[in-house]
Amino acid sequence: MSQSSPTPPVRPGAALVTGASTGIGAEYARRLAQRGYSLVLVARRAELLEALAEDLRERCGVDVEVLPADLGSAEDTERVAERLRAGPDGALEPVDLLVNNAGRGDGGPFAEQDPDDVDAMLDINVRSVLRLTRAVLPVQIARRAAGAVTGLGVITVSSLAGEPVVNPGGSVYGAGKKFLTLWSESVAAEVRSAGVSVTVVLPGFVRTDMTRGVQERGLPDVAFVPKEHIVRDSLLAWMARRPRVVPGAQYKTGDALLKLLPRWLVRTVARRMA
Ligand SMILES: NC(=O)c1ccc[n+]([C@@H]2O[C@H](COP(=O)([O-])OP(=O)(O)OC[C@H]3O[C@@H](n4cnc5c(N)ncnc54)[C@H](OP(=O)(O)O)[C@@H]3O)[C@@H](O)[C@H]2O)c1
Repeated sequence: MSQSSPTPPVRPGAALVTGASTGIGAEYARRLAQRGYSLVLVARRAELLEALAEDLRERCGVDVEVLPADLGSAEDTERVAERLRAGPDGALEPVDLLVNNAGRGDGGPFAEQDPDDVDAMLDINVRSVLRLTRAVLPVQIARRAAGAVTGLGVITVSSLAGEPVVNPGGSVYGAGKKFLTLWSESVAAEVRSAGVSVTVVLPGFVRTDMTRGVQERGLPDVAFVPKEHIVRDSLLAWMARRPRVVPGAQYKTGDALLKLLPRWLVRTVARRMA
């Protein structure tokens, strides 16, 4: 199917959303519940997940499981991976859509960053994403091969922070997101013929807890894309089987321009802004 093909109808199934306790993840949960998806909500703060689950059950009439987990811990990540391995013959509903959204955004000069924080950020932003996706894809591929449902796959929330040629002050965060983008687009190409849709989302700034510092610096409104648009645009792209989406007209244009500018110019501007 070409990128301009119309969006195929996708029957709501079950979605597992990581980082669903706040921000963009909670918005994915709300939007998917409105569309009739049953949900598995993952994050560390169980009380926030429970409150969201209760609200969605009541307002949307969908089933919601709460699966508190620290995706920085190998054991907890394995528990979530186990849930993702549920097949069509078991007691649990198989997961049609995995949304890899959980993340942390530590920044600062690399030479001053706490090495443990660097490891923790890579565990959550990168390693857990690979573990969870590796768990769910074989089940989805087998379900499709057995002639089962459409609308199976993965959305991964990466970032435009990985797109500039340099990202001083965000070296590890940006490089981790760049990794996710290349990895996701490559996996999308691998599983496309199996009928499984894999999409990576590259947001610019979004008003959430993660960008509190940036918001306090008083960036203009145009620098922010509402989380509702991130979720809407990424679900549309995923349903249309597009491997990559940059939500927000201002960031689509910025992303395209960035690719045209000479590297030395981007480096110079980035050094001055750091
Ligand atoms: N906001 C932006 O401008 C922006 C731009 C580009 C990309 N993104 C990406 O968007 C995603 C969502 O971020 P957000 O902006 O919505 O920020 P947020 O409101 O801070 O949400 C982060 C989510 O990740 C969860 N999380 C953090 N550490 C975790 C851990 N160890 N285990 C499990 N869950 C964990 C948090 O839940 P708990 O604390 O309850 O565990 C929370 O639900 C991230 O991947 C981020 O990199 C954000």
